[in-house]
Amino acid sequence: MQLFTNIQALEEAVAKYHKDGKTIGFVPTMGALHAGHCSLVKQAVEQNDVAGVSIFVNPTQFNNKEDLAKYPRTLDRDMALLETIGADFVFAPQPEDIYSDEEMNSTFQFDFGGLDQVMEGKYRPGHFNGVVQIVSKLFKYVQPTRAYFGEKDYQQLAIIHRMVKVMNIPVEIIDCPIVREQSGLALSSRNERLSADEKKIAVNISHILFESRQLTSSQSVQQVENWVIEQVNRVEGLTVEYYQIVDQQTLQPAQDWSNAIGCITVYCGPVRLIDNIKY
Ligand code: PAF
Repeated sequence: MQLFTNIQALEEAVAKYHKDGKTIGFVPTMGALHAGHCSLVKQAVEQNDVAGVSIFVNPTQFNNKEDLAKYPRTLDRDMALLETIGADFVFAPQPEDIYSDEEMNSTFQFDFGGLDQVMEGKYRPGHFNGVVQIVSKLFKYVQPTRAYFGEKDYQQLAIIHRMVKVMNIPVEIIDCPIVREQSGLALSSRNERLSADEKKIAVNISHILFESRQLTSSQSVQQVENWVIEQVNRVEGLTVEYYQIVDQQTLQPAQDWSNAIGCITVYCGPVRLIDNIKY
């Protein structure tokens, strides 16, 4: 497995892969890899001649400096893991390799067609500008045939689909299902920040979401939204930031149960967790 820390070396390798007619599967990450990331990388390995992973904690998508500072950085461990699952290269640059001072200090603009006005976009202003900014740059350097994203970050995935369409980027986006612990807890790098007790509490989030599926035959979207919020807030140690049932494509509030997805953000102690469920 090759490690590239600068763009030029990466671009030279990519040019050679393309010259040799190889397909490239790409998984962008911020590191602190877990089984959810591994499932994306394994799929990239299976479906492509070459599989690459970027590990870059992207400063422009954090609207909270403390969150950025606390984000786990575990490059050696991540590299060892990727080696065992057959990744061919890792791209792990520093912020100054990716961004000019001007880019660091200004907001990247993108026409989200309204996808950023709800849920995460509302609670984390500027977050998706940073995501689009970094992913479009990474796609430019890596020129992947296919890129793999987890459905846990559902809004991000919807925005990436729009980004490749609007920017006309020739890459196939592969949506990958949420990977859960046996307990039901959605895997996330943030789970590392949960204590053992908090982890037990956090399990309730997915259980309540699963249970809410049983209500759709008898209750309206609004009723189920309210029910989920109430049930989660009832669990000591959990506080809902939002729960919204939206259309899977437009992310606008769902009018009925066809094509609906419920997206939740919950604080478990100080840790912000997200999850979702398709109805
Ligand atoms: O989902 C993530 O880990 C990040 O948002 C991504 C796509 C790697 C961009 O920094």
